[in-house]
Amino acid sequence: MDAENSNDFRATFACHFFFTVNNKVDILLGLQWGDEGKGKLVDVLTPRYDIIARFQGGPNAGHTLEFEGTKHVLHTIPSGIFHTHVTNLVGNGVVIDPVVFAKELDALKAKNVPVRERLLISRKAHVIIPTHRLLDRASEASKGEAKIGSTLKGIGPSYMDKTGRNGLRIGDVMASDFKSRYEALKQKHLHLLKGFESYFTLDRAELDAMEVEFMAGVEEIRALTIVDSEHFINQALKAGKKILAEGAQGSMLDIDFGTYPFVTSSNTVAAGACTGLGIAPNKVGEVIGIFKAYTTRVGSGPFPTELNDEVGENMRKVGNEFGSTTGRARRCGWIDMPAMRYACMINGVTQLIMMKADVLSQFDTIQVCTHYRTGEGMVEDLPFDIDAQKVSPVYESLPGWNVDLTGMRKSQDLPAALNDYIVYLEKALEIPITVVSVGPDRSQTILRSKEHAAVAQ
Ligand code: GDP
Ligand code: IMO
Ligand code: MG
Repeated sequence: MDAENSNDFRATFACHFFFTVNNKVDILLGLQWGDEGKGKLVDVLTPRYDIIARFQGGPNAGHTLEFEGTKHVLHTIPSGIFHTHVTNLVGNGVVIDPVVFAKELDALKAKNVPVRERLLISRKAHVIIPTHRLLDRASEASKGEAKIGSTLKGIGPSYMDKTGRNGLRIGDVMASDFKSRYEALKQKHLHLLKGFESYFTLDRAELDAMEVEFMAGVEEIRALTIVDSEHFINQALKAGKKILAEGAQGSMLDIDFGTYPFVTSSNTVAAGACTGLGIAPNKVGEVIGIFKAYTTRVGSGPFPTELNDEVGENMRKVGNEFGSTTGRARRCGWIDMPAMRYACMINGVTQLIMMKADVLSQFDTIQVCTHYRTGEGMVEDLPFDIDAQKVSPVYESLPGWNVDLTGMRKSQDLPAALNDYIVYLEKALEIPITVVSVGPDRSQTILRSKEHAAVAQ
């Protein structure tokens, strides 16, 4: 399949002035609680780049792309994989489950994507083994009501082994004594699992079956091209290659800056691209922050603007807000500006991309949470103990547009009320919104012309 030449829109996009790609690494990342539409936009932007690199997270991610009537969901493989000219790199900051990875490879091969030719894996990326997944389950079971709502993909336990200096890396998978290293780590995990006995019963037959799948996945990984990715990426930069780092999850799920402890176990923010790829901070170019025109969250944890009513239900229905990885219903609510301001600050966002504007077309009024009301009065920022404190959103109302946007392709066509909403957000965040997405398909993407932007570009 050559998806690349099939769409004139994308050729237009590729020569547009907004993305001033240089030999720095641009970063595209989510500003909310994940699922902002990163996969779609990375695919749309890929014609501008030579390398697409994932820098953190793992199979907890589900990145959806749609083109030519087909939907694709990627978990660990970067979202540039459908383009003929691009190298896709899985960086050292990523945790790889060979089982999920092998399934992704098979699904792509079935679609005739020559994935092996386009894919490189870092020797230093960590490996998720079956007992990491069991530990994830046991840990969640032990938390009861306070569970994180993890995807149960083994993310927390594998990053714990990384920072605890027990982990196995892709380089170890290539070693001749890999099986004995694996066995040693598994024994440690079995010992840890005993501590969870009142919450979790180990099913040996299940573990045996998981191991068979795991070892088969390991064989598939061994056949891929494994590289010293930090050298690869820095040499590519020197050679003038254009690189886009693709984030997973979102800033509010960041291990340091998210709504801890209801977060994931990696740095999802821009700094994570430096450690997760081995690029120096002075090599970072554009930081592209992507957000939904409203907010969603999947799993537990604070969500000040959550709507447990018909409005939230409509957002879920029209936005098809069900998890790409677990199928769970996503919680929905209005846009949360304290969280957005915070995410823009932490990431140094230089341009914004607004997704799913079409989902809001059904509402007469759009609400924007500008502040929170807390026991101590009105605050502009997320409180430290946001989980324990009862914070309620303070809203400003803006008129809705009630127009179907899904067929629109030019910023001049956007209804005035939507443009007002966009300009409102640009002014509040002091960052230009350069792209507006009006549907899941790659073609349903609108570049905002300079004359419509409130903030200089
Ligand atoms: P990611 O994890 O950030 O890549 O996002 P997901 O793929 O998990 O979730 C985004 C969902 O919204 C996917 O089902 C996309 O196909 C869909 N999507 C992306 N952009 C738009 C849009 O502008 N409008 C609508 N209606 N759906 C979109
Ligand atoms: P993408 O890349 C949305 C959430 C989980 C849970 C918490 C911790 O598709 O945006 P973990 O499995 O990491 O231990 O889960 O983080 N979560 C995501 N939510 N999108 C994701 O990825 C997510 N990855 C993890 O639901 O609340
Ligand atoms: Mg997702």
